[in-house]
Amino acid sequence: MCYAIPGRVEKIEDNKVIVDYFGEKRKALNELTRLNVGDYIYAQGGYVVTRIPSEEAESILALWKEEFFNLQEVDLKLSRLSLNQEKDSKLLGILDKASQSKLLTKDQILYLLELKDTNELELLYKTANFLRQRNNKNSCCVHGIIEISNYCRQGCHYCGISNNNKELKRYRMTQDQILEAAKEAVEVYGFKSLVLQSGEDAGYSIDELAEIVKKIKEDFPSLIFISFGEIGLEGLEKLYQAGARGLLMRFETSNPHLYQQVHPGMNFESRLKHLQKAYSLGYLILTGSLIGLAGQRTEDILNDIFLASRLNAEMFSFGPFIPHPHTPLANQSQVQVDEVLKVLAVSRIVAKPDAKILLTTALETLNKEASKRALLAGANSLMLNVTPLSYRPLYSIYPNRAHETEEITAQIESTLSLLRSIGRAPTDLEVI
Ligand code: 5AD
Repeated sequence: MCYAIPGRVEKIEDNKVIVDYFGEKRKALNELTRLNVGDYIYAQGGYVVTRIPSEEAESILALWKEEFFNLQEVDLKLSRLSLNQEKDSKLLGILDKASQSKLLTKDQILYLLELKDTNELELLYKTANFLRQRNNKNSCCVHGIIEISNYCRQGCHYCGISNNNKELKRYRMTQDQILEAAKEAVEVYGFKSLVLQSGEDAGYSIDELAEIVKKIKEDFPSLIFISFGEIGLEGLEKLYQAGARGLLMRFETSNPHLYQQVHPGMNFESRLKHLQKAYSLGYLILTGSLIGLAGQRTEDILNDIFLASRLNAEMFSFGPFIPHPHTPLANQSQVQVDEVLKVLAVSRIVAKPDAKILLTTALETLNKEASKRALLAGANSLMLNVTPLSYRPLYSIYPNRAHETEEITAQIESTLSLLRSIGRAPTDLEVI
């Protein structure tokens, strides 16, 4: 996949660089040694990932040039917002305020999260899409996720790979298999950022995980996010030193009582400590919650969005809870797509301007149309599954996951065609 645009380094100040994309300037952090003004690079998630030879960059840029501006035009058209409707309603007042990036009150946010009327919801989504475009232009980041093991020592009530599910066949990829999957993702498909995920699997030591991260970073340059659950504060430190730069860890719910109900033997405070420590170490924080757990109130969801903000989330990850037949929550009802879209849209309104809002695989699983709707309701980030096909169905956190049996090339093709149809391009750096 070549769904990333090379940028040209314009200016370097310590570890900060300004990158030019067809005249547009964006900021990134650089950790590569010997980077010079004029070099061409790929950047992702705010980091310079790798340098590329000038001739190669120039030929890719020649292909992109026209497309880049065409895409921006399509995006701009789709994100126009008109709130000047004749009637003077409470909703229009709130959305008008949001569209000017003014802070909303708690009551106003609750009002948005409680909307039900289809036309009103569409206005909310349009406002979020307008803000996404205004603050982030048409950028969209595409990560590749490798699910390295489905062993888990925890017993989360909602999760299909919890250790209580005795019907699931377990797998643990070897270091060589993981490196092979990372190589394929980076070298064959052109991914610039990888998420390594597993259950809480004591089968890998921290040192082994650190070695894997280090090798991937050295041999297959990419921005690496880790998602191995609660690996301890020291573990976080070791993996940062090994080269991981992002932590994907949801707090799942900000309501401590609900947290306790669905996470027997786990501790909400410990979860938060991991997220806080990770931020202080320099990790990009990807966090959020499950939407649709029984007993979750609208106010809890509002607090989830606030908590993600307080934890300095770079990316907001909110997805639907999907009942899994082999879990204690098997008989809970399925949340509707709009309930999740609302959360994405409100996150876009509440989050810092350059935050990424994730379109989750769980939402894609609920309904094919949901992906496009999410991207038009504030989302600007997604993940494709690059786990070897033979393991993918075994990582069954919930049933019938989108992309479970889909070759990587097919996922890339359909994603690119969706992104092109709505004018999105793969530069995810902060616009300056
Ligand atoms: N439905 C949706 N998401 C789930 N996860 C776990 N089980 C389910 C489910 N049944 C999510 C959790 C976890 C992430 C890896 O998967 O939020 O953080």
